[in-house]
Amino acid sequence: MTRIKFENVSKHYRLINSGGIKTFLFNFVSQIKSYRKNVFHALEDISFEIKDKEVVGIIGRNGAGKSTTLGLIAGVLSPTSGNVEVKGRIAPLLELGAGFHHDLTGRENIVLNGLLLGMSKKDIVSKVDEIIEFSELEEFIDQPIRMYSSGMLSRLGFSIAIQTNPEILLIDEVLSVGDKGFQKKSADKIHEFREKGITIVFVSHDVGTVEKLCDKVIWIENHKIKMIGNAKDVISAYTDE
Ligand SMILES: Nc1ncnc2c1ncn2[C@@H]1O[C@H](COP(=O)(O)OP(=O)(O)O)[C@@H](O)[C@H]1O
Ligand SMILES: [Mg+2]
Repeated sequence: MTRIKFENVSKHYRLINSGGIKTFLFNFVSQIKSYRKNVFHALEDISFEIKDKEVVGIIGRNGAGKSTTLGLIAGVLSPTSGNVEVKGRIAPLLELGAGFHHDLTGRENIVLNGLLLGMSKKDIVSKVDEIIEFSELEEFIDQPIRMYSSGMLSRLGFSIAIQTNPEILLIDEVLSVGDKGFQKKSADKIHEFREKGITIVFVSHDVGTVEKLCDKVIWIENHKIKMIGNAKDVISAYTDE
């Protein structure tokens, strides 16, 4: 059974010209032309398929388009063209901005997201402490999350996501944030989900872990798929470059 299918998917962002309104009015024609040109291609004609129970890694340099791919799977982003199909209950990709509210505290965000994800109040209350403990954010949990670094947001997002009983788990770089203890604990969790037969897609810089955990690896370079195949082959090609 196919869980995730991308068919010729492209994602473009319009870059806003910062010349201001005066520049815009006085150079109207050239501004319109440049507006049309100022399109950034984050992903270009991507196609792949992920089957039930597969564990798939996405690797590639910074800015290649890995997080954009996860955002499209999660439904946080929509494609500019092409087709994205996802079947199954998906763990939220909170740190990408869909579910986190920056003026609320970490604890309030846990409760809010629990409610949005359909957990009962009782359920949330029983899980809050475990989520906070896993995130290792005890000291900061009653601060608004706008004070959090992106690593802290990833840790909080991952800690909530693993409590939601997903069929598809998406993970963005969580293995490279926090201390070694946190990384080990996260890798163990991913192993546990893998054993349960949950479909996992994860982005990581740590090719060692990717090779250990993944059946299949997608290598994205310059917004296109450079290689897709079994973990060993793709990672050795990637590290040889
Ligand atoms: N909201 C946005 N507006 C404009 N450009 C963006 C936006 N989000 C991402 N990009 C650009 O798209 C490209 C791919 O980004 P991303 O998927 O985050 O890469 P990766 O996760 O592989 O580092 C990057 O060059 C990034 O700067
Ligand atoms: Mg990224």
